[in-house]
Amino acid sequence: MKIFIDTADVAEIRDAAAMGVLDGVTTNPSLVAKVGRSYREVIEEICEIVDGPISAEVLATDLAGMLKEARDIAKWHRNVVVKIPLIADGLKAVRVLASEGIKTNVTLCFSAPQGMLAAKAGATYISPFLGRIDDISWDGMELIAQLRTIYDNYGLTTEILAASIRHPKHVVDAAMIGADVGTMPHSVILQLLKHPLTDIGLAKFLADAAKIPKS
Ligand code: G3P
Repeated sequence: MKIFIDTADVAEIRDAAAMGVLDGVTTNPSLVAKVGRSYREVIEEICEIVDGPISAEVLATDLAGMLKEARDIAKWHRNVVVKIPLIADGLKAVRVLASEGIKTNVTLCFSAPQGMLAAKAGATYISPFLGRIDDISWDGMELIAQLRTIYDNYGLTTEILAASIRHPKHVVDAAMIGADVGTMPHSVILQLLKHPLTDIGLAKFLADAAKIPKS
């Protein structure tokens, strides 16, 4: 499974990229608002750090507005993927953008039928928000499984981008199901790395190494 980081904080992106684990980046308006910089400035800096798909979201919610913004965003960098909300005009925009060769990430997917329609419209990625589904006591991972089965049944090539990931179990379960991508906060990438036995083992090796006679 490809690993994307879900942040607009370039320090976090640089850290994850330096570990060699990063395949791409997703952002949304809430994440960009936190860093207090213009959307374009942040995305252009991210594109210099990571050579992979970088999602930037439109703010318009009508067809003409989304198309205008999407075509502009797509010019920021060759790796930019335009995030489009899963609404009727959003699907219309995805259809047009697909015909123009502009990659899209259809966001705010909370059900299998929504995901089917996004794939039919020509979405490059679908973003099921599994954590937000879990937050309301439903089963976000079931949606990932449904989308995997439906897309495979009909040869739909839209990539499943498991989003709103909260913890390592989400990552592992989504990978076991066969999600194409998982996007997660920097904190979750660090959690994936940590194991107490690694820390204990390393401390013991270093303590024992101190007892080795110097040559
Ligand atoms: O960027 C989309 C998604 O990953 C947002 O996650 O944590 O705000 O539910 P979250």
